[in-house]
Amino acid sequence: MTIEGREATMDRAAARRTVLVTGGAGYIGSHAVLALRDAGWRVVVIDNLTTGFRWAVPDDVPLVEGDAGDGPLVTKTISDHDVFAVMHFAGSIIVPESVQNPLKYYANNTAQSRSLIEAALAANVSHFIFSSTAAVYGNPPTSLVDETSALQPINPYGMSKLMTEVMLRDVAAAHAMNYCALRYFNVAGADPECRAGQSTLGATHLIKVAVEVALGKRAQVAVFGTDFETRDGTGVRDYIHVSDLALAHVLALEELISAPTKSHVLNCGYGRGFSVLEVLDAVDRVTNSPIERKFVDRRAGDPALLVAQNKQIRAVLPWTPRYDDLDTIVRHALAWERHLSGQSATSALACAENSKAIEGEPHHV
Ligand SMILES: NC(=O)c1ccc[n+]([C@@H]2O[C@H](COP(=O)([O-])OP(=O)(O)OC[C@H]3O[C@@H](n4cnc5c(N)ncnc54)[C@H](O)[C@@H]3O)[C@@H](O)[C@H]2O)c1
Repeated sequence: MTIEGREATMDRAAARRTVLVTGGAGYIGSHAVLALRDAGWRVVVIDNLTTGFRWAVPDDVPLVEGDAGDGPLVTKTISDHDVFAVMHFAGSIIVPESVQNPLKYYANNTAQSRSLIEAALAANVSHFIFSSTAAVYGNPPTSLVDETSALQPINPYGMSKLMTEVMLRDVAAAHAMNYCALRYFNVAGADPECRAGQSTLGATHLIKVAVEVALGKRAQVAVFGTDFETRDGTGVRDYIHVSDLALAHVLALEELISAPTKSHVLNCGYGRGFSVLEVLDAVDRVTNSPIERKFVDRRAGDPALLVAQNKQIRAVLPWTPRYDDLDTIVRHALAWERHLSGQSATSALACAENSKAIEGEPHHV
């Protein structure tokens, strides 16, 4: 299809139909809602608010409170809003918790996804985009992991996500629905305009925790394991800015629309890794104030190194990351954290200004 034809298709679709975003009140889902709206799509959110926040959904976006796996609720929502595509973010996301309570993950990630897919299929939803994870690769032997690498999750979280990928693969082969599974690496940062950010209470994400420490909300940041086979002994991850990730979802949707018989599995990362200590150094650099580090044992289920080979997403989607810079990711996370705490900003506008000010003055908290 030509670019003009593709744009015309998008315009027609955008004019009348809606994308259902499950988990749209959560961290990544709320950024996807913004990206979809910015691109002209109508959106409806289903979220049970277990870890999300009602206020994270913009006032002009309908929020249906309930489970993504509640078939009748999903069916009604699809019908009420003329939904033609689903972006499925809802899920449980804490790896150590999944090791301690695996059935919670198979229930909330796998079984709920199955019910959602079933309802979407019955309602003739055409396109499905799924939040998958690098955890499907487990502990890969190579430094750069691509989509053909062995799928060997080492924790129930990763397995619960892989099982959903498998369901989607089989459903797409049997029915008129295509899908894109996006395997996120480590998501961090916040909307550069400070319209959204990570607000999770008791979050375990390194950059989130580190900026909380920098603002005095926590005493110290734990470094889980210093004896990994990595350059400084700490775990190495590929940190991707949440707004670049949200954009990838919009582009994936456009791709699914323009080629409805094709499905995709795509890594979402920048293709370079930072160790825990390098991330903490970046936080110290941005705030010009060292945060306290506490060195503790490895967590169950943590691989040493996970970095994306991202050739595939760059080949399939016209995706050009805008925030591929660790200090920028940290600055945006810090600006959002200040916004949350009201330390120096009480409105989204003030927060955005704060974000710019931090960019201009990298060594001032
Ligand atoms: N944050 C990361 O670094 C990361 C990495 C890889 C994959 N992911 C995936 O991205 C997705 C979003 O993660 P996040 O970081 O935004 O987490 P989050 O906890 O902030 O968001 C999840 C949202 O889903 C909602 N939810 C959970 N279970 C639900 C259910 N059964 N029905 C309806 N709503 C439900 C929660 O209330 C919350 O709003 C998850 O599926 C996660 O597995 C996240």
